[in-house]
Amino acid sequence: MKVVLEHVTKRFPNRNKKIKEEVVAVSDFNFEIPDGKLIGLLGPSGCGKSTALNLICGLEEPTEGRIYFGDEDVTDLAPEHRGVGLVFQNYALYPHMTVRENIRFPLTNLKGSAKLTKEEMNARVERAASLVQINELLERKPSEMSGGQQQRVAIARALVKTPQVLLLDEPLSNLDARLRLQTREEIRKIQRETKVTTIFVTHDQEEAMSISDLIIVMKKGVVQQIGAPQDVYDDPANLFVAKFLGTPAINVFKGEVRGGQLFIGGSAVLDVPGVRDGGVWTGIRPEGFIPDSNGPFESDLLGIEVMGRDITVLSGHPDAENPVVRSIISSDRRIDTSSPTVRFRLKPYKVFLFDDATEERLKFEYDIESDPEAGGAV
Ligand SMILES: Nc1ncnc2c1ncn2[C@@H]1O[C@H](COP(=O)(O)OP(=O)(O)OP(=O)(O)O)[C@@H](O)[C@H]1O
Ligand SMILES: [Mg+2]
Repeated sequence: MKVVLEHVTKRFPNRNKKIKEEVVAVSDFNFEIPDGKLIGLLGPSGCGKSTALNLICGLEEPTEGRIYFGDEDVTDLAPEHRGVGLVFQNYALYPHMTVRENIRFPLTNLKGSAKLTKEEMNARVERAASLVQINELLERKPSEMSGGQQQRVAIARALVKTPQVLLLDEPLSNLDARLRLQTREEIRKIQRETKVTTIFVTHDQEEAMSISDLIIVMKKGVVQQIGAPQDVYDDPANLFVAKFLGTPAINVFKGEVRGGQLFIGGSAVLDVPGVRDGGVWTGIRPEGFIPDSNGPFESDLLGIEVMGRDITVLSGHPDAENPVVRSIISSDRRIDTSSPTVRFRLKPYKVFLFDDATEERLKFEYDIESDPEAGGAV
């Protein structure tokens, strides 16, 4: 089932009664979520992710705009009539019920022609339980299970009514690191098996990047960019998106463009044809540096971290936004650690320029052929 948002806006009265101005939690959302995909809705705390999800499931009513499931306008439909499955951060299982009863619960109040027999209900419960691999735990109470298992019960409960759309709001936040990884893989697998259109809310960019077909990056209620995770990483629309995606984070420098050349500090570090003269924020991905004793980019060497396959060079630069610049290079490279500085040349497709006022991307053309190494695989 595709989900379409048409100019959807949600305003709340400010929680602080003294402030008259309304909060725009979701501003003019206008996009289509394709059928059968897993969408990561991503952004920092308070940017409106949960509000967006609540609008889609019907727990909140939009101030403006319409929401469609397929061709049906669901804007005025109550949540229980939208065919959505919901999973929240806290598992919200009924503690006095067994796992089986918890999963069965949404089926017990079906009315009219949708009503199921006991056998049908049991078959559905078993199927949902096997999707999340908890068949062995059906007779347990929630208190007898780990956090990860409880969250899987919550997912099974959301799946048991075979929803048209599955909505997950930070479903992994309460799990420890290992379980998070494992459960996110499972969600991906379940989504592939059921092909249910799924919207997964998280503030963790790595989590969203790793399992989503498409990510929607939000900031303060406004969509910044929509695309496949790798495409957004490789082609960020603005400085916010560039900084939000990637671990380690992109390195940001204050730079200046003059006559088609990018200057950081006093040095011309890269040709950037077509970019207007003036101040720019320069983002360089950690994997965008090539050690080169004749390279134009010089920074103060602070140390190196050897991580097996690659080396992280830590350096400092007066025009860097952060005190430490991180460059990730292949471990067959040698860095002269006795030298006070380190020199690099830059891979042009790992360097992004942004207008220093609007923070919007300023694109330039580059010729990958001119430096085979810079164009090679990272
Ligand atoms: N019922 C409400 N009344 C007033 N303001 C609200 C209400 N619900 C949300 N907001 C405000 O709307 C904005 C978006 O909130 P929302 O909960 O959607 O953010 P979020 O991205 O889910 O954040 P988090 O990652 O912390 O869960 C915030 O500024 C929040 O304070
Ligand atoms: Mg939230």
